[in-house]
Amino acid sequence: DNSTFRICCIGAGYVGGPTCAIIASKCPKIKVTVVDVSADRIAAWNSDHLPLFEPGLEEIIRKIRNRNLFFSTDTKKAIQEADLIFISVNTPTKSYGFGNGRAPDLRYVEEAARQIAHTATNNKIIVEKSTVPVNAAESIKTILKTNKQPGVNYQVLSNPEFLAEGSAIHDLLAPDRVLIGGDETVEGLSAIKKLSWIYEHWVPKERILTTNTWSSELSKLVANAFLAQRISSINTISAICEATGASVSEVSKAVGLDSRIGSKFLNASIGFGGSCFQKDVYNLIYLAESLKLEPVAQYWLQVIKINDWQRERFAHMIVQNLFGSVNGKKLAIYGFAFKKDTADTRESSSIYVCRYLLAEGASLHIYDPKVSVERIFLDLSEQTGKTETDLRYHVQIANDAYEAAKDSHALVICTEWDEFKLLDYPLIYSTMKKPSFIFDGRLILDHDQLISLGFNVFCIGQKPPINKYLNQSPR
Ligand code: NAI
Repeated sequence: DNSTFRICCIGAGYVGGPTCAIIASKCPKIKVTVVDVSADRIAAWNSDHLPLFEPGLEEIIRKIRNRNLFFSTDTKKAIQEADLIFISVNTPTKSYGFGNGRAPDLRYVEEAARQIAHTATNNKIIVEKSTVPVNAAESIKTILKTNKQPGVNYQVLSNPEFLAEGSAIHDLLAPDRVLIGGDETVEGLSAIKKLSWIYEHWVPKERILTTNTWSSELSKLVANAFLAQRISSINTISAICEATGASVSEVSKAVGLDSRIGSKFLNASIGFGGSCFQKDVYNLIYLAESLKLEPVAQYWLQVIKINDWQRERFAHMIVQNLFGSVNGKKLAIYGFAFKKDTADTRESSSIYVCRYLLAEGASLHIYDPKVSVERIFLDLSEQTGKTETDLRYHVQIANDAYEAAKDSHALVICTEWDEFKLLDYPLIYSTMKKPSFIFDGRLILDHDQLISLGFNVFCIGQKPPINKYLNQSPR
């Protein structure tokens, strides 16, 4: 009888929240409870101010919250009543001890598994949704097996999530594929079937792929590593473009039209951010190192090194073109989120660019349409090691793009928010110091128009145009 099927999701974050919202909305007969150790996060999910911004999410939540979608801190109860439990807790890179800066920190996954084992009194299907290293399912199994209540059986599946922040709802509603890994035993296959049945409520069956557990775990790391690798690849080309007459937009268009290559993830920029790419590439590097496959580790390490270099290069471009010094100069930073349509700043390239500019003595006026003031100071404190009070001498948060630009020497585009394309640049120009500069780190603005207004425009992946109001020759 599927009418009483219950799901529990441990971890009410960027993955757990949206994923369960879609499952609950597509499976009205299934009761879905999302739990979290953070009472604040759960309270936010139950309020009018969701803990995260994701286009389309609020409307869905409003419709089904407390109908068959529940947010709770009562983990025990949710575990007890569930038939299937998603583990979607965070798996950050370790910041201590062995594997510091490389290895994934699995303590939250382990903690979730222990909680399940101590609490559950009947059989459960456990689904690892978090991104984990290959073999994590085995560790989860061992913890469950050695801590379980008598008579309880577990099946552990791998079901990595491929959603991208900013388009999570779309990605969940129409995924390219759903990947399920499990044991090739009778019980394993039956568990896979159950999870597949949930997705089949809205995902065409041919898009639901089943593999063994290791392939499933590894595929997630590989997918993110390939995406990150494409960005670093095009970013290496952007540096060549800046030094020659080529334009990276033209190159990536020409290259991307090759159907064998494809056009996605070929935009040059100030580097990738987000909580996943760097962490998952490191996860893969750590795996290769553990397997003594040093050339493999070195190959993927280069993806991260290029990303770091790209951020630094951009900051350097700014300093160099502002006559070699930004000390005491006001710079308007447009965008702090790691990409548009999200308030998430984890590993945002903007943070790194700000850090470099602060180290040069610049005064930053930051504007982002979604990121909170508290978040910006927390991130900058973490990056620079300075307190908020100290930072406030050099960092101000603007309420809008115009305020940030006023009296500034330069605009620095760090996030590709659509609204930056629609600003009144003649007005902005009239309020800025002269000569006025724009550094477009995302290649989103109309550079010809800006130059005709009098701006000096510099961007990633293009030799600087003849900036007619600069009487020095371009870089
Ligand atoms: P998150 O940090 O937003 O959410 C994780 C939540 O789990 C936190 O709210 C935390 O308080 C909670 N938590 C930790 N331990 C717990 C426990 N024992 N009991 C209850 N709650 C607990 O993380 P996010 O971004 O949702 O990522 C989760 C996983 O999904 C990670 O492994 C990540 O790599 C993966 N992933 C993330 C994507 C993204 O775009 N953010 C996309 C695809 C996968």
